[in-house]
Amino acid sequence: MEVKFLDLKKQYSLLKNEIDSAVQAVFAEASFIKGAEVEKFEENFASYCGASHCISCGNGTDALTALLKVYNLPKGSEVILPANTFIATAEAVVSNGLKPVFADIKEDFTISPESTESLINQNTSAIIAVHLYGHPADMEPLKKIAEKHNLKLFEDAAQAHGAAYRGKKAGSLADGAGFSFYPGKVLGAAGDAGAVLLNDEEKAKKAKMFCNHGRSLKYFHEFTGINSRMDTIQAAVLNVKLKHLDEWVAARNQVAKSYIEQLSGVSEIVLPKFYPETLDAWHLFVIKTEKRDNLREYLKNCGIETGIHYPHSLPEQPAFANHMDYCRTYRAVKESHTLLSLPIGEHLSAEEVAFVSEKIKQFYS
Ligand SMILES: Cc1ncc(COP(=O)(O)O)c(C=O)c1O
Repeated sequence: MEVKFLDLKKQYSLLKNEIDSAVQAVFAEASFIKGAEVEKFEENFASYCGASHCISCGNGTDALTALLKVYNLPKGSEVILPANTFIATAEAVVSNGLKPVFADIKEDFTISPESTESLINQNTSAIIAVHLYGHPADMEPLKKIAEKHNLKLFEDAAQAHGAAYRGKKAGSLADGAGFSFYPGKVLGAAGDAGAVLLNDEEKAKKAKMFCNHGRSLKYFHEFTGINSRMDTIQAAVLNVKLKHLDEWVAARNQVAKSYIEQLSGVSEIVLPKFYPETLDAWHLFVIKTEKRDNLREYLKNCGIETGIHYPHSLPEQPAFANHMDYCRTYRAVKESHTLLSLPIGEHLSAEEVAFVSEKIKQFYS
């Protein structure tokens, strides 16, 4: 048996008719930039997430960059983000002339409110909570900390399409959110795409302008921005896929439940958990084991693809080496060598999940 980590060909084969006709309609209209599908997706996604404004853009990195941009945080001020995330969270901070400061993570891989609060000083302007692996960060204590210290609180929801915290969807839990629709995400486009979610009309207007060369009218630029627009074709694909998001999230939850049931007796691995206050999107199912590399090799030889997210935490990266001093004792740093992402997604059958679990048990027996 071969178990794929991600199977976009299978997903496409199931949605082929819908996707092909949506894409053909874009070609028929030849409206490749700012086509009707883009506006439709912005409305659909804002309403799905419970936010008042969705501003589509070229990718998730630009979405986070635009989000920070419209808040106009003091240049050089500090933005706290988790030490274990994809580099884009930190890049958005740096490209806005702000300073990233890394907080440690909790056992659920999201930013630790205690660590966050310990890093706040008079130069701190914002916190970015990353819903890593599709698991919403603990927003309630983070909100209290942000209010107490008069800071902005943002969501990096690039991995959390369809996730929810205390009944509210990811993307509607803070002062604004950035999403990525990179093809491998729970809701993925057929190329790069992203979106900013905001509840403030003025800021939404500014984000839209920023992603379109700072312009309010054609060839009239109020400020300099970037060229980061969602292609009409991507919006058309996303409009088709958004209708399936809840069913995909449910399927991912079922896979996660099965892994946890089947692997709970293996004492040498730490499994992720379900939490009562969250609906997890399970973008990734990440286990921890000291024998990570050997297990990965064993599974590969059994025909099972796995991933590592991420091989190094951000302070371990050369780009942020100057942060290592205060991060050395972090869980995020000490445990990065133990992380292993098992296959998860709506493409997996119950037999495949049982096969992966069986092989893991075999490895440890
Ligand atoms: C947590 C996180 N933030 C930001 C991004 C950036 O998104 P993109 O690749 O669309 O620029 C990603 C995507 O990989 C991500 O996983």
